[in-house]
Parts: sequence; C-alpha cells; structure tokens
Amino acid sequence: MNIILLGAPGAGKGTQATKIADKYGMPHISTGDIFRANIKNQTEIGLLAKSYIDKGQLVPDAVTCKIVENRLAEDDCKQKGYLLDGFPRTIAQAEELDKFAKIDAVVNINIDFSLLMNRLCGRRVCKDCGESFHVSTLNGATTCSRCGGELYQRKDDNPETVQSRLDVYTEQTAPLIDYYTKKGIILNFVGTDDPPQVLFGEIAAELDKLVK
Ligand code: AP5
Ligand code: MG
Repeated sequence: MNIILLGAPGAGKGTQATKIADKYGMPHISTGDIFRANIKNQTEIGLLAKSYIDKGQLVPDAVTCKIVENRLAEDDCKQKGYLLDGFPRTIAQAEELDKFAKIDAVVNINIDFSLLMNRLCGRRVCKDCGESFHVSTLNGATTCSRCGGELYQRKDDNPETVQSRLDVYTEQTAPLIDYYTKKGIILNFVGTDDPPQVLFGEIAAELDKLVK
C-alpha cells in the first residue's frame, strides 16, 4: 500500500506517520527530514534546501522530485509499500509522482489554522530519535523522555517563518486536496488537540479496509 500524508505545517503529519509506518511495516519518507539531514551533513542539496527552508518557501520541484524518485527505487519500498510525508506539495510534484508511482490512498488532515502557530513555535524535537514535544509539557526538561537525546527547536519554527509556511501551504499545497479528490483516493480527517492516538485510531480504521 502506497500512501501520501497531506496536511498543513503542524497538522500532525510526522506524528501520525511514525504510528502508521510502525503499524503497517512501511518506510516513512519525509522530504523535510531528508532535507534536514542534508543540511546537517552540509551536502550540496542541503546548502540549496537551507536557503528555501529558512524562509518558509518550497525547495524547487525538480530537486525534490528527483530525491523522491530515487528514494522510492530502494528495496525497502518494494515490500509493503511506503508512506510519503510532505510530498507532493505542489500540483507539479503530484503530476511528476504519477509518472513513477501508483498511490493507493491520500490521508488528508484538515485542521483549524488557529491551532498551528502555538503548536509549531512551541515544538521541540529530539536530535536522536526525532520525537516531537511541546514546550508546555516539558517542565523545563531539555532531553527526550523517550531516548534521552538532546531537544532542539527547528530553525523554521518561529512566528515569521511559520506564517510564510502556512501561506505557501494555502497557495501551493491545498489545491492537492481537489487533485486527489478527483482521483477518488482521498481520505479526509480532522486534526484536533485530542491526544494523537485518537486521530491515529480513525486513520487506521480506514487504512485497515484497504489492506484487507
Ligand atoms: P516539513 O518538515 O515537511 O514541515 P511541514 O510540512 O511544515 O510540517 P511539520 O513537520 O512542521 O509539521 P507536521 O505536520 O509533521 O506536524 P508534527 O507531527 O510535527 O518541511 C519543512 C520544509 O522543507 C518546508 O517548509 C520546505 O521548505 C521543505 N520541503 C519539504 N518537503 C518539500 C516538498 N515536497 N517540496 C518542496 N519543499 C519541501 O506536529 C507538530 C506539533 O504538533 C508537534 O509539536 C506535535 O507534538 C504536536 N502535535 C501533533 N499532534 C498533536 C495533537 N493531536 N495534539 C496536540 N499537539 C499535537
Ligand atoms: Mg513533519
């Protein structure tokens, strides 16, 4: 089963992706994570991506599509399928993806934008395992309760960059909802501040129907 996770910045794509990938035994492919790893390792792609990510803009389609096409050709994607998190993000990316992949379902998380600024500006991420926390729940802790790794704040999680990410989502990514609705493969969900396990239960109930 090949799945796309669609949703605004902070909608909970990464949070749900970990759970979906665990349950269905598929690789979780996040283009944002791939770019951040490249930035950390100071690769050529990382240097290019940084100039866009720091401003809350999208990395050019051609670069992003090539990365995903190469990643989907790896062996682990040929077993139980894969989960794409944060790709595609433009109509051009979706059209390109159609040339090298067959998508079974698009999990779309709709969420009220008023929840997102607080979620993102308060997010702290573990450097080692990638788990996300909200600063309001940490009681001053600076390490991950899951693995002990150091927590950091993503450079694009500041009010100005978050606003530009939300604007980019509205202009360039939201049209994908219509694109996949027309293809008849979209599954719509509502993101809330209920514990993430609640939304995961709803998503898994629908995906189970496709697996059977
Ligand atoms: P990316 O890393 O994909 O960031 P994003 O889309 O902005 O989304 P986030 O990762 O910030 O949010 P999320 O939906 O994963 O939410 P999370 O689960 O963490 O992309 C970053 C940048 O890379 C882009 O801006 C762009 O420049 C570039 N890029 C990436 N892909 C690209 C592409 N295809 N084309 C071009 N450029 C690309 O949750 C957020 C917070 O909320 C966390 O703190 C979490 O703990 C909390 N939370 C989650 N669920 C709940 C809940 N139920 N209740 C309360 N809090 C919750
Ligand atoms: Mg994410």
